[in-house]
Amino acid sequence: MAASRRTASLLKSLIGSQLRHYSEGVRTVTLIPGDGIGPEISAAVQKIFTVAQVPIEWEVVSVTPVKGPDGKFGIPQAAIDSVNKNTIGLKGPLMTPVGKGHRSLNLALRKEFNLYANVRPCKSIEGYKTLYDDVDVVTIRENTEGEYSGIEHEIVDGVVQSIKLITEGASRRVAEFAFDYARNNGRQKVTAVHKANIMRMSDGLFLRCCREAAEKNPDIRFEERYLDTVCLNMVQDPGMYDVLVMPNLYGDILSDLCAGLVGGLGLTPSGNIGTQGAIFESVHGTAPDIAGQDKANPTALLLSAVMMLRYMNLPEHAAKIERACYATIKEGKYLTADLGGKGKCSEYTDEICQKISAE
Ligand code: IPM
Ligand code: MG
Repeated sequence: MAASRRTASLLKSLIGSQLRHYSEGVRTVTLIPGDGIGPEISAAVQKIFTVAQVPIEWEVVSVTPVKGPDGKFGIPQAAIDSVNKNTIGLKGPLMTPVGKGHRSLNLALRKEFNLYANVRPCKSIEGYKTLYDDVDVVTIRENTEGEYSGIEHEIVDGVVQSIKLITEGASRRVAEFAFDYARNNGRQKVTAVHKANIMRMSDGLFLRCCREAAEKNPDIRFEERYLDTVCLNMVQDPGMYDVLVMPNLYGDILSDLCAGLVGGLGLTPSGNIGTQGAIFESVHGTAPDIAGQDKANPTALLLSAVMMLRYMNLPEHAAKIERACYATIKEGKYLTADLGGKGKCSEYTDEICQKISAE
């Protein structure tokens, strides 16, 4: 009798907390801490989110590859189920083996959830001096095919072929995404970045899809530029560009270039957006040389998490965290070594928390 009363009261409190969560709009987000410095920068973000009272709960999953029935290594089912259920994820860096071993899990995740648009805003950070003061560009990268199709074979000894796959469907949806993004974010212009002078069929198709999307979106200016020209212009006068849309590999390279203009990969956020969900991630590596030493810079993951909050329609929490982060960088007291400072990850994180609490 006593036992069943205990069970009943336990059930009541469990249901109560579920209901409370539901009514307060608490949502569950999948967290993939990642490898190397991943766990410590993820812990920093979690701490900041707690202090900022963000109404989300984390579901932490590992994506350490597991061997499937076909003998190939891939993402564990529990991680797939979690992202499918929650539809939103935050991810730290994952180690990618070079030239051998399992395929990059970063790419596997993008493919698995069909996260077709990769959005990387690069904006100058006040108080963190680089060669430029006024960078404000967004690269939108096709995220599922192109040079990343992974279709490669050796034709004869010493001759290898790699297929760059461009489809109308994927090109069209990313082109349309770019115009929607521009409109929803108060941007004026979309530039299609291509090499259709050389890859006339594949980039030609991509470009045609961009032109068609431009016709449907006459309120946003459209221009097309060669990739090499964009690289040249970007380092001479980044103010020439606004939103840029391009095939997969070009986006990989150009987004790093843009990140370099504002202080590097340690400062720039990234979001992989699909129709069924989205995963936000830091784009820097796992930095195994400093892992576990409290030296890592959590900013890129934090700003990716801020991007996630805006995507989840929590703009006030996003703005509060962003303000505290930028103010801490501007003050320059606790910058981590990659930004030329001597601060520890924990000191930098605590300073951000302090600023949030003081608001
Ligand atoms: C990125 C990264 C990845 C890529 C790597 C880690 C597979 O460089 O997200 O830009 O090439 O896309
Ligand atoms: Mg890259």
